[in-house]
Amino acid sequence: MYITRKTGGKIPKFKKEERNYESKKVLSLLMTAALAAGVLTGCGGGRGTEETAQTAETPAAAEETAETESAETAEPEEAAEEETAGGGIVGVALPWLGTQNWAEAEVMFKEQLEAAGYEAIIQAADQKVPQQQQQIESMIENGAQVIVVGPVDGSQLGSVLEKAKDAGVYVIGYDRLLENTTGVDGVVQFGSVKTGELQAQALLQGLEELKGEAPYNIELFGGGPADPNAPNFFTGAMSVLQPLIDDGTLVVVSGQTDFTQCATVDWDNSKAQSRMDAILAGNYSDIEIDGVLSPNDGIARAIITSCENAGQPIPVVSGLDAENESVEWVWSGRQYSTVAKPTNALVAETVSIIDSLLGGNGMPATDVTADNGVIDVPIYELPPVVVTKDNAKEVFADDPDRMALLKD
Ligand code: BGC
Repeated sequence: MYITRKTGGKIPKFKKEERNYESKKVLSLLMTAALAAGVLTGCGGGRGTEETAQTAETPAAAEETAETESAETAEPEEAAEEETAGGGIVGVALPWLGTQNWAEAEVMFKEQLEAAGYEAIIQAADQKVPQQQQQIESMIENGAQVIVVGPVDGSQLGSVLEKAKDAGVYVIGYDRLLENTTGVDGVVQFGSVKTGELQAQALLQGLEELKGEAPYNIELFGGGPADPNAPNFFTGAMSVLQPLIDDGTLVVVSGQTDFTQCATVDWDNSKAQSRMDAILAGNYSDIEIDGVLSPNDGIARAIITSCENAGQPIPVVSGLDAENESVEWVWSGRQYSTVAKPTNALVAETVSIIDSLLGGNGMPATDVTADNGVIDVPIYELPPVVVTKDNAKEVFADDPDRMALLKD
């Protein structure tokens, strides 16, 4: 994947922004003509309304919209009261509910969409691509004007999303990129390459803090290969770790350093635990493991459990999601770090985009795009934040549920 920014950002694979507004304009003219001729028979016709409005939107107005919306992100409920969204049907297709962030998304989308006056159809696909395709089909049939999609497999929804687009439905990617399709209007996510960088930096910090002098024995884990985030997390992490592997500071004892060797199919914690068991049995009978790169919290806990079972000292392990159990483990010193990517903020950002679309104001402006293999997709990015015991109270200051887990 290629991510593009207009300004700043030292993330690998960046190129200069070249967002193509022209194709949108052409599309909007066609849509306007179609509406005038009365031939647009899509479900709800939200896309037609917006594209017309977007043509009239000046860049300055777009900036203003974006600023207003980022302010709204902080207070979704208040924002909902101020909005005059006028209702509408919104589908939300989630990949599974197997990690806390997705379970939270299910609840928070329902709360925030209903508070903003929308009817919500929310479904999760249990990691099964055909099930998710079917769920999206039925959302189109049930008149959804916007469909929010966290894909099971970023590249397997092309035709159903094209179908949504043809029916006049907006499609917003949620947390994960939608690849190889023109049927996507934008993606809301936390910086995925940045997330990997933070994980690797935390791993190094923990090794220096807790494991004495280099060299350090480490192992590498990646997430589910069908999830477009997983290779990005790994790429970000390796941009930090590879030079230190090359100079001998870090030793990957198993020799497994390719994403394909390190990936964890379906983000399945038990698969990660088995892989860690095998690596320890095969390589660590007479040496200690110092650290492990883990792509999320569930896998981090599986890795730590495997090491404990093998009688190893607990290695420094990174994570992601600030899941409750891992927040407790970070606080007690069992897991070194996690990365917070608050679901409520990501859902609020998504709902503010839906307000803009269904309010006739088009997609908000953004400086970031990602090449999804077919088009440059506008990306609405929030910053992930690394969490260790040292800063946990600061990071969770506004999160009473997680604050309650930080007990001595
Ligand atoms: C999400 C993570 C999550 C993982 C497994 C990723 O796409 O960004 O938050 O832990 O999927 O569900």
